Amino acid sequence: MKNNLLIAAGLVVLVIFSCTNKKGKMVPSSSNPTSSGTNSCDTITYAKHIAPIMSSSCNSCHSSGNPLGDMTTYSGVKLKVDDGSFKQKVLVDKTMPKSPVSPLSQKQLEMIQCWLDKGAPNN
Ligand code: HEC
Repeated sequence: MKNNLLIAAGLVVLVIFSCTNKKGKMVPSSSNPTSSGTNSCDTITYAKHIAPIMSSSCNSCHSSGNPLGDMTTYSGVKLKVDDGSFKQKVLVDKTMPKSPVSPLSQKQLEMIQCWLDKGAPNN
């Protein structure tokens, strides 16, 4: 009798565990708006996606008033987008960010690509 109870309890735990496990697996795939879906670019904005990348990976060097590029403001970034150097350094040569800042992730590069493809709007 005691054993049956233990087995039943074990089964309940197993069922609950496997359910939460499945739920856990669904979270990453659904919270990944930039993975190459055709509409994924529509959600990319300067304020929400690009500015945070600038602040975490660029602004330590490209600070306010830096003649090599001020990446702390939209107009500073846009200046380098318009002269072509932004795309060249970040997406083509991938020489920015410079060490010791670690390279951008694939996801970050995709977000920047999306934003540039849309004409780098201030949104
Ligand atoms: C560790 C310092 C450092 C970091 C971090 C860094 N840069 Fe730079 N960046 C430089 C230096 C130094 C130069 C000038 C020399 C060169 O072009 O390699 C430069 C040049 C550039 C240029 C060319 C400007 C021009 O007028 O030719 C662009 C565009 C640029 N960086 C963008 C970025 C972006 C975007 C990031 C973040 C993803 C970034 N950089 C991160 C140091 C840095």
